[in-house]
Amino acid sequence: MSQSYEEFSAALSDRTRRRELLFRGDRPYYVLFSQQFSRADLEALSDTATAIRRLDRHRDGVDFLRRILHGHRVMNLFAQPSTRTAESFIAAADKLGASTRLVSDMRTSSFAKGESIDDSVRTLSSFFDTIVVRHHDDDFASRASWALSQSGRPIPVISAGSGKTQHVTQSLLDIYTLRYSFANRGGIDGKRVLLVGDVGRNRAARSLAYMLTKFDVSRVDIVCHKDYLPEDGLLEYLGRHGIDVRIHDKLGQTLEKLGKEVDAIYMTRLQQEWDSGSGGEKKLGAPDDFVLHHEYSRFVRDDCVIMHPLPRINELPEAWESHPGFVVWRQVRNGMWMRSALLASIHGAADEIRARAARLNLV
Ligand code: ASP
Ligand code: CP
Repeated sequence: MSQSYEEFSAALSDRTRRRELLFRGDRPYYVLFSQQFSRADLEALSDTATAIRRLDRHRDGVDFLRRILHGHRVMNLFAQPSTRTAESFIAAADKLGASTRLVSDMRTSSFAKGESIDDSVRTLSSFFDTIVVRHHDDDFASRASWALSQSGRPIPVISAGSGKTQHVTQSLLDIYTLRYSFANRGGIDGKRVLLVGDVGRNRAARSLAYMLTKFDVSRVDIVCHKDYLPEDGLLEYLGRHGIDVRIHDKLGQTLEKLGKEVDAIYMTRLQQEWDSGSGGEKKLGAPDDFVLHHEYSRFVRDDCVIMHPLPRINELPEAWESHPGFVVWRQVRNGMWMRSALLASIHGAADEIRARAARLNLV
């Protein structure tokens, strides 16, 4: 049945319709934003990521994994810069035996000649089995998903960062990292998370906030300059899902007051690439009130988890790397495992992977 893009987008705000549009049975198919996943989905993806991580250390496991997506081709279309997301998607696909292409300069594609999103992705679906896309336009990935869903040859689409709105695969790896970090402390339920920085425009922090609503989290603290507060429905969504959001504007004072109660601090950089009209050279970096100075370590517990999606500028000094809860490099590595798990789940191989890991006594 044909459906306009407007109807498709409107249906995405209805939970039941969204599930029908974005999943094929239990398998994610179009991966666009955090709200689309249930807690059970997140747990299954995390278990699959752990199974892949352990199989990858086992000789038979490595060979088994490489057969999972053998013959598949993954297109990585990155219209914005990336180090971690692009490379970890490539590594993730490689672990499963798929081949990949990375297009990161849009001037080399026919977008530069004015080709529409619809025609471009329909063309790519003739050659690839999955499209991973990062774009400055908030709606690019959903538009591509819609265009493919209306075509005779749909293929899965994964957003690898959509404008200023969401970075769903980042929040998948962040949830995986938090689950791991809190494994001996009852999991994510009941934990206090502090988000710091440009939460209005940092899609990683935004996607994580949305995903925290899937857990029994009753309060989220945000340290954010008033100019960088989320203006869209994020805060309202958190409130509607039972999360008490407290906004603060100075990190040092906030930690002095609440630091010992906080279980995880999620740092982010200012998203200065979106600023306009500044002219000349911009000085990169966050103002002092949003920098996690190392001297604040006296305000936080040793087991407080310190996270950052990266890249960092000045907001998370290197001195924090010796803090016992510093997990930033683990986040990077987890990106590869969680993205492998996502690709495997999309292509219906998650159960087989978990079963093989169990048979080899790896989980
Ligand atoms: N790398 C993340 C993103 O692309 C976070 C950032 O760039 O600050 O959204
Ligand atoms: N965390 C993240 O998305 O990093 P990149 O921008 O380098 O992909």
